[in-house]
Amino acid sequence: MKPLQDSIGRTINYLRLSVTDRCNLRCRYCMPEEGIGKIAHGEILSYEELYRIAQVAVAIGIDKIRITGGEPLVRKGIVSFLQHLAEIPGLKQLVLTTNGVLLEKMAADLSLAGVQRLNISLDSLDPKTFAQISRCGDLARVLAGIEAAQSCGFPIKLNMVVMRGINDHEILDFATLATSSAITVRFIEYMPAIREHGWQQLVLPGSEILARLEQRLTLIPLEQAEMAGPARNFRIAGASGTLGVITPVSHHFCSECNRIRVTASGTVKGCLFAGSQIDLKPSLRSGSDLLLAQTLGAIVDTKPVRHQMTPDECHHQAFNMSSIGG
Ligand code: GTP
Ligand code: 5AD
Ligand code: SF4
Repeated sequence: MKPLQDSIGRTINYLRLSVTDRCNLRCRYCMPEEGIGKIAHGEILSYEELYRIAQVAVAIGIDKIRITGGEPLVRKGIVSFLQHLAEIPGLKQLVLTTNGVLLEKMAADLSLAGVQRLNISLDSLDPKTFAQISRCGDLARVLAGIEAAQSCGFPIKLNMVVMRGINDHEILDFATLATSSAITVRFIEYMPAIREHGWQQLVLPGSEILARLEQRLTLIPLEQAEMAGPARNFRIAGASGTLGVITPVSHHFCSECNRIRVTASGTVKGCLFAGSQIDLKPSLRSGSDLLLAQTLGAIVDTKPVRHQMTPDECHHQAFNMSSIGG
């Protein structure tokens, strides 16, 4: 099959598919304190509709699908949906991002359904700080979920959103997780999605994160793996796990962007931060797979070259990450 390419020659092979905007946490970098307007239940795509999008996307060149939310595991029937998706011919990777809260009881079913890898968000190893960042989370449940996922044999990446003055003192503790087991720990720069007042103070640039790590550890850069995401990855001398740094703010990776996103209400977006988006519902409801393929193709054709955010300023309209899936 001919690769799916955008107007500047980037190959688009990765779909992030959000199955719900609902979440059982309220992370401070994801949504404002006062909460969020939720998508009305009637507006959320059915599993049949999400499946058709996935199937058509694979037919035009997508070979990796990441299921996101909100928190994808809170949606009823998710395991059967994943099992169905995993059977789409031509889909090479079915992976999922979760906050881990429900993993303890669901990890085995996810593995049986055909999910190949899990990325788990974890921003603190201290119960109090974790509860503050997530505004309600119980760290013990997430740790139990991670353990269950490890027992099921899942390759795991932990995502830590680093925020200066909030959890940045834990960077080395997180790195230790990758020295003691074969997981990947990724440090992500805080992105001002919700445009909270004074957000600039929260951004700890990737260069500073690396400098702090290198005071204690010897980091060996790894080749960018095929189908890799936006992280720059490192091996730690003498350890089984790896570390990654994701720098959307200080050093964007837009020239290598390989993805599109579909929200739970059926909007397809070419970029997390740009206005370009198309409502897929009319194409979906027309019943024509050709029209659906053309609409997905149109968002690829109009994918922005890059976002305009810097460590000092941003120009996007505030949005909740939970409505797009990160
Ligand atoms: P892998 O397939 O394991 O490499 O996953 P991934 O890094 O693509 O997905 P994940 O859901 O773990 O996202 C990691 C972090 O990178 C999150 O904070 C995302 O919001 C951020 N991120 C992922 N894709 C993009 C992107 O295209 N632009 C920006 N600015 N950030 C992104
Ligand atoms: N900045 C950086 N990362 C974020 N995520 C969600 N919101 C933000 C933000 N404002 C991360 C979550 C999750 C992934 C999908 O996106 O921690 O791991
Ligand atoms: Fe939920 Fe993820 Fe948003 Fe946290 S970042 S509130 S876990 S969707």
